[in-house]
Amino acid sequence: RVAGPCVLVLFGVTGDLAQRKLLPAIYDLGNRGLLPPGFSLVGFARRDWANQDFAQLTHDAIKEHARTPFREEVWKQLAEGIHFVPGEFSDDDAFDKLADALADIDRRRGTGGNYAFYLSVPPKFFPVVVKQLQRTGLADAPEGSWRRVVIEKPFGHDLASAMELNTITSAVFPEESVFRIDHYLGKETVQNIMALRFANNLFEPIWNRGYVDHVQITMAEDIGIGGRAGYYDGIGAARDVIQNHLLQLLALVAMEDPTSFDADALRREKEKVLKAVRLPQDLGSSTARGKYAAGWQGGEPVVGYLEEEGIPADSITETYAAIKLEIANRRWAGVPFYLRTGKRLGRRVTEVAVVFQRAPHLPFSKDDTEILGQNALVIRVQPDEGITVRFGSKVPGTAMEVRDVSMDFAYGESFMESSPEAYERLLLDVLIGDPPLFPHQREVELSWLILDPIEDHWATQGQPEDYPAGSWGPPSSDAMMARDGRVWRRL
Ligand code: BG6
Repeated sequence: RVAGPCVLVLFGVTGDLAQRKLLPAIYDLGNRGLLPPGFSLVGFARRDWANQDFAQLTHDAIKEHARTPFREEVWKQLAEGIHFVPGEFSDDDAFDKLADALADIDRRRGTGGNYAFYLSVPPKFFPVVVKQLQRTGLADAPEGSWRRVVIEKPFGHDLASAMELNTITSAVFPEESVFRIDHYLGKETVQNIMALRFANNLFEPIWNRGYVDHVQITMAEDIGIGGRAGYYDGIGAARDVIQNHLLQLLALVAMEDPTSFDADALRREKEKVLKAVRLPQDLGSSTARGKYAAGWQGGEPVVGYLEEEGIPADSITETYAAIKLEIANRRWAGVPFYLRTGKRLGRRVTEVAVVFQRAPHLPFSKDDTEILGQNALVIRVQPDEGITVRFGSKVPGTAMEVRDVSMDFAYGESFMESSPEAYERLLLDVLIGDPPLFPHQREVELSWLILDPIEDHWATQGQPEDYPAGSWGPPSSDAMMARDGRVWRRL
């Protein structure tokens, strides 16, 4: 899969995402031979820079963060197509210059008027940039060429604002030209959920309420909010990652099999399952929220959320969120899905655990099976990518003692191929125009529909409960599970 000649225009090149992920991913694509001939990269930002300055920033970002080794010839080829346009987003003149620059690039490098506009900018600038693209005519693709816009979350902060944002974008770009990034869908281990379920016949017969007791989806991070106070405060853990990454994981785990892997078929199944999600009646006892207090991480003392720079002392933003959801359909009725995420937890780990019901009858004595847990299939999304199956096995010896063991699949052991970084895969899909891994606006709205009542409830609850940095979250989260007679998996 190689893209045709095109230009990627990156708004927000000086931002963290551009430097840590996007610029290195572009280089990695080049290094793997996946960028088209003539590919050009245009940066746009409020800096008084020349092309060389942007090239230098790109070079440094690649040196520091690229996955693949640095090769001078790959860099040279990329550098030839690097161009910078300085300006404010509200500056008409700067956008006119951008249009001229793009026309010139088309002439010099044969990029044929094919442009992808990547808005790696805070959401308040989306409308301004989109309107500039409309005003300059850059949003309209002449016959035989294409124009695409890539937007990064947050897609609003609730249903109403997400719809408002979409009204602005859809007035300028048709839905098929809008690529919404949820970088979790770019991860190999997340795409593998579909392979695991639908390329095999081993798991699907038991993937339902007849066998599954519950599902736990965990995204734990050891980092705090870093320098992102401005973005994070008022947003919190649930809006930051449950609304998008975790609900996408839930959709992939719970959906019916799509008839094909094309965008329509896949999105339709995800939408169906998101539509079937139900919140428990009592949001107080079926959700939990917390904020990290000072503690220790990796042997170092760290400050609490309220002491982080830029966070108001009376903030009620959560850095940990856990929720219980149900899915009202034939496959899942009565099977709870527990979702949790948090910053400054014990370690960085994302996993989906499908926990099975206990065997209906055990012919062994209680003493022999005391430590027997429930069977589980654990999709290890990161960092130790793979899949684990937990089941009981006879302990070697003369007695009939049974104990839990694990059967493991590890990517590193089974595949020689290295996994592309999530952004690499998604950027390539944008340049090719391949949309299955990008959520549709309807999925975004359905996810807000699930989250809005929870956020409304939390907004009336004051400050979230404290948990020490380096722990596994607030006691109310364990209590939520205990009420259902369950426990969170130990990670
Ligand atoms: C982002 C969130 O979407 O995902 C961040 O905004 C979070 O708060 C990040 O740290 C985690 O991504 P990953 O790929 O490291 O799990």
